[in-house]
Amino acid sequence: MKQKCRYLFSKNAFNSNAFTPGKEYAFSEEKAALGHQLFNDNMLSNNNNRSCATCHIPEKAFTDGLAKSMSLENSELARNAPSLNYAGYQHGQFWDMRKDDLEGQSSDVISNKEEMHGDLTIILAKINQDKNYQAAFKKIYHSQKAEVWQLQNVLASYIRSLAKFNSNFDEYMRGNKSAMTESQKRGFNLFVGKAQCAICHFIPLFNGTIPPTFKKTEQEVLGIAMNGENKTFDNDLGRGKFHETVAALQHSFKTPTLRNIHKTAPYMHNGGYKTLKEVMNFYNKGGGKGFGFKVDNQTLSDAPLRLTELEIDDIIEFMKALDDN
Ligand code: HEC
Ligand code: HEC
Repeated sequence: MKQKCRYLFSKNAFNSNAFTPGKEYAFSEEKAALGHQLFNDNMLSNNNNRSCATCHIPEKAFTDGLAKSMSLENSELARNAPSLNYAGYQHGQFWDMRKDDLEGQSSDVISNKEEMHGDLTIILAKINQDKNYQAAFKKIYHSQKAEVWQLQNVLASYIRSLAKFNSNFDEYMRGNKSAMTESQKRGFNLFVGKAQCAICHFIPLFNGTIPPTFKKTEQEVLGIAMNGENKTFDNDLGRGKFHETVAALQHSFKTPTLRNIHKTAPYMHNGGYKTLKEVMNFYNKGGGKGFGFKVDNQTLSDAPLRLTELEIDDIIEFMKALDDN
């Protein structure tokens, strides 16, 4: 039976199945539980020495605390590991949105030479030799042997389950007026007002998935620097790499969710910004252009926000209210 959803801030306001590639991918608790097990299983990597949880650590809202993740050879990967909380609620995976959905994403990571260097057919063979896994897949999909799309689907289902919608902000919007502090309330008003954050981090997901239909997720050009000193421009083309002739998309990145942001430092696709203060300083000056970078296609307004120290602190406090409880 379909559960009643009273309003946008109800716990079950969003239907995660609207973000799957098709009907057979529909979410179930059973799939998520099996996905959880595999997420933590080193079997998914070539040398049986890392799992998804190596870089997506639950206590850090499924990030790894590093500026850039480490490859199997212990060198830096190109980008920062994003939070997986609420990753199910965006139409585009990875900072550059190179995959449409979570099912497509997992095969990319597993077979990536630097990340896990796993081979899906070898993994499937291992799964099909393991009595428990084999039985679990059979129970869900009723096929003789586990198949690639099923492995992708259970991992994706687990990630879809990582969206609790139980932060103090959610509580507050559902009517518990003591769930947020005065500073957080001021911060919220700045977030949707003077600081203009909500024109890209759309409420209530706080990512780039656009209301009211939530059918598309946006990327933006901020003009990010290599680090919080904002002295050197970061040359990562982002989505532009896949659209070389589209000027507007060069250096563009997906707008990520700000839910649980206090647990996921360092920040941005390159992990260059160590603290939320550094992030706020960047926005306050008008992004990359504000620091003198030549970013003709910057979509972030380059007009300084003129936020005071106290206002910046309030916004950072407000973002704490976005931590899941
Ligand atoms: C070596 C560290 C590492 C491992 C292991 C790893 N990831 Fe990631 N993950 C990353 C990095 C780095 C990115 C961002 C890459 C990019 O955007 O180019 C990422 C991105 C993602 C995303 C996209 C999230 C978003 O918001 O765009 C998902 C989902 C994800 N990983 C799931 C997984 C799953 C499932 C596994 C196991 C099969 C896994 N990861 C294993 C480092 C890792
Ligand atoms: C023009 C759209 C836009 C506006 C306005 C905007 N953001 Fe962002 N935000 C983004 C995008 C895109 C990223 C990812 C950029 C990247 O990594 O290259 C981002 C990243 C972030 C991050 C880091 C996220 C992470 O997981 O590392 C934080 C924190 C953040 N924004 C907070 C804010 C706050 C606070 C405001 C208001 C002062 C704001 N944003 C305004 C688009 C925007």
